[in-house]
Amino acid sequence: MTEPAGQHEKPFLYVVVCAAGVAADVGRLITSAQERNWEVGVIATPVAANGFFDVAAVEARTGRPVRSAWRTPGEPRPFPAPDAVVVAPATFNTLNKWAAGIADTLALATLCEAAGLGVPIAALPCVADALAAHPAHREGLARLRGMGVRFGDPYAGETEPGGGRPEFGWERALDLVRRD
Ligand SMILES: Cc1cc2nc3c(=O)[nH]c(=O)nc-3n(C[C@H](O)[C@H](O)[C@H](O)COP(=O)(O)O)c2cc1C
Repeated sequence: MTEPAGQHEKPFLYVVVCAAGVAADVGRLITSAQERNWEVGVIATPVAANGFFDVAAVEARTGRPVRSAWRTPGEPRPFPAPDAVVVAPATFNTLNKWAAGIADTLALATLCEAAGLGVPIAALPCVADALAAHPAHREGLARLRGMGVRFGDPYAGETEPGGGRPEFGWERALDLVRRD
């Protein structure tokens, strides 16, 4: 059984993490969310959970397991129902599959279900310009917008002339699901 939303002292935020390089810094999003009074549970795609961020550090920070695999039918759900969902970073692959209604990872199934639950959903895409030009991607984003998904600014993650990368706006995801 899912623990119903609203039975917690704090609202519960699902942070869905995809396999983009910036995922290494997802701890910043988690810490900011906790500072904004969210309780956080992390759901990672299987690729993201396999080396894109420090799973043990995130588990220590949230006090909950990082989920990426389906539970067995007899197992209880480890997270309560969400009060909001953010997907950051959101990859080309996961955004396109989400828009198409594909639910072959726990992360995708969670995203596909979230709009139907009526909870606020924010996505911070992290997609190179060359991929973002694909028509399926552009159509997919329009479809997700039509479902009520709130998007941060496009972020291509390309290296700047000095060798660094522009700042990934983690806080924007939290602004997009603000409760006040
Ligand atoms: C080091 C590295 C960085 C990557 N960064 C990105 C990225 O910024 N955006 C993206 O869409 N895919 C990126 N990819 C490709 C994805 O990891 C790949 O498409 C993967 O299948 C996505 O799986 P997921 O959407 O289930 O997380 C990167 C791959 C590697 C190895």
